[in-house]
Amino acid sequence: SWDAARAAAIIAGHAGMEGATLPILHALQEAFGHVPPQAVPMVAEALDLSRAEVHGCLTFYHDFRREPAGRHVVKLCRAEACQAVGADALHTELLAAHGIGWHGTTPDGRVTVESVFCLGLCANGPAALVDGEPVARLDAATLALRLGAA
Ligand code: FES
Repeated sequence: SWDAARAAAIIAGHAGMEGATLPILHALQEAFGHVPPQAVPMVAEALDLSRAEVHGCLTFYHDFRREPAGRHVVKLCRAEACQAVGADALHTELLAAHGIGWHGTTPDGRVTVESVFCLGLCANGPAALVDGEPVARLDAATLALRLGAA
């Protein structure tokens, strides 16, 4: 949960670096699981940037989450080798089955689906990371099994 003192310490710890914006946003996401909106003005002030500049950085990089993730995080590979074995159709199916779009989280907070570009499993696509575990030859049934009941 949000902790302003913790965020301030993280920001102060990196503020002296060259190009501190990305390292700070990464460190905040590591600490909180996402980059809390309350942190944006704090980062802006520490780095002498506008809030819009910090917000722009946050939205430009898809690695940053602006909301807490679901209990499960599924990262689907959208790079070429996976596309060649039908990843696009699978992704459309999976997103529709969960009723969300890319980078969305199901309303019950169970699953967040994000994109990733190549996991080094190109020979065995479609590939994904499910809660950090690489999964080859993904299909809807495999994903359901991986996600289990939780
Ligand atoms: Fe998907 Fe390499 S293209 S794992």
